[in-house]
Amino acid sequence: MTEERFFPATAMPDRDWWQALWPDPEGVLRRLGIQAGLTVADLCCGDGYFTAPLARLVEGRVYAVDLDPAMLARARTEVERAGASVLGCIAADARAIAAVLPETVDFVLMANTFHGVPEQTVLARAVAAAMKPGGRFAVVNWHARPREETAVLGQPRGPRTELRMSPEDLRAVVEPAGFVLERLVELPPYHYGAVFGRA
Ligand SMILES: C[S@@+](CC[C@H](N)C(=O)[O-])C[C@H]1O[C@@H](n2cnc3c(N)ncnc32)[C@H](O)[C@@H]1O
Repeated sequence: MTEERFFPATAMPDRDWWQALWPDPEGVLRRLGIQAGLTVADLCCGDGYFTAPLARLVEGRVYAVDLDPAMLARARTEVERAGASVLGCIAADARAIAAVLPETVDFVLMANTFHGVPEQTVLARAVAAAMKPGGRFAVVNWHARPREETAVLGQPRGPRTELRMSPEDLRAVVEPAGFVLERLVELPPYHYGAVFGRA
């Protein structure tokens, strides 16, 4: 594994301010339309902050994917601590999602990572190929606000200002991969969720 395969500006944030920013991760997942009965891939799952409530919500029908095996180990611990389980923890590059998942899924979640993807339409195409017909792709992104305005616990947080994407910027790179924006959800104070359906 080479370091260059990691998307820029996507290191897992420290838990203290992440928890302060996202006090209700399960509520976020519900607002994105995730519910029991769906099989979900948590793409670039990090340390499992969203994976654990996700695993509870969909009763274990989750594939956790991250390039960093250390993150996956932490995610597994989080899931177990939540009394839940997942179908698999897969150490792989997000761009290989369609090849590494053992089955197609109903829903792909990518939280707090898309801003760093170099070829975003290429990734969105890979996501489309990993889905069942009628599948959905939800991207959770920082709003395109100057970094100095997005403080948590007294410090500016999140990706560099120039990496941030408006919902329109996101549509412009995801829709050419065969998706249509279905829903935009505000995730205060600093994020939005965009839910795309297969066109
Ligand atoms: C900012 S963290 C977000 C974690 C989680 N989604 C959340 O919102 O709490 C981004 C994660 O993406 C992973 N990552 C970076 N580049 C990747 C790639 N090319 N393929 C798969 N995972 C990658 C990193 O290892 C890191 O765990």
